Amino acid sequence: MSTTFTIDTSTSRAHPTPAPMKRLTVPSVLARKRDGVTAEPLVMLTAYTVRMAQLLDPHCDMLLVGDSLGQVIYGLPSTIPVSLEMMCAHGAAVVRGSYHSLVIVDMPFGSYEGSPQQAFASASRILKETGAAAVKLEGGEAMAETIAFLTARGVPVMAHVGLTPQAVNMLGGYGARGRGEAEERKIVGDAKAVAKAGAFAIVVEGVVEPIAIAITKAVACPTIGIGASAQCDGQVLVAEDMMGLFERTPRFVKRFGNMAETISEAAAAYAADVRSRVFPTPDQTYQRKPSTSPDAIHSA
Ligand code: KIV
Repeated sequence: MSTTFTIDTSTSRAHPTPAPMKRLTVPSVLARKRDGVTAEPLVMLTAYTVRMAQLLDPHCDMLLVGDSLGQVIYGLPSTIPVSLEMMCAHGAAVVRGSYHSLVIVDMPFGSYEGSPQQAFASASRILKETGAAAVKLEGGEAMAETIAFLTARGVPVMAHVGLTPQAVNMLGGYGARGRGEAEERKIVGDAKAVAKAGAFAIVVEGVVEPIAIAITKAVACPTIGIGASAQCDGQVLVAEDMMGLFERTPRFVKRFGNMAETISEAAAAYAADVRSRVFPTPDQTYQRKPSTSPDAIHSA
């Protein structure tokens, strides 16, 4: 864990865990898959903010600061406009909010594809500014040289194959990949290439189950599925999808909460409380409702 980014524990919103746990490392994640078998599936969720990291950290093995923050946090139409500055700011917040999980930060579109040297400049900036231990980048065989370049220089890389959202303009949408034989061969080949190049784990997104199985059997490193069946070595979801923050989520997402309803109920109750205040009339003095007023603490 980066000491540079640790929250002062004397502040009221400091990390709730009094005794920091030991953070998982890249080798410890890699070691979870032994002789092709992952006895305990790897749990990964996205996190973009310090508070969400604090809440998710004790339950996860890995926290991914995904470039999906473009859509989830910034309301952007895709991940294409996400910048390195955004990833560094959110990555640092997630590292500050976590003690246990391995934190991985996505490399945004345009920050690594140009050359291995460009990728190293971007990745080293991410590791320095955030305190995260690894980066993730999208692409298969075409990125193998870059992955080898980064890993040889001390940058652990999580790869991402199958449906790669940064390639939305080439793919024409976010539909599942690998439906034909040629595409299936290409995706499995991509996974083998990035594994051989040194990726310590591979996100496998939006592929049919036989492809997820073929990849998981073919590579020594763990596969982390999203929309890729339960046959991978681990699972990742966008945390807000999993918690039910949005009305519409991808078909493969299993919801474990209804955050949209909880938030809107709280906002409605707050609004009703404020609106129920009694205002002074010309012949009356102002009447406060001391026990229910939301700012009673401040006015006490
Ligand atoms: O950006 C992201 O959140 C991701 C995951 C969905 C794998 O890449």
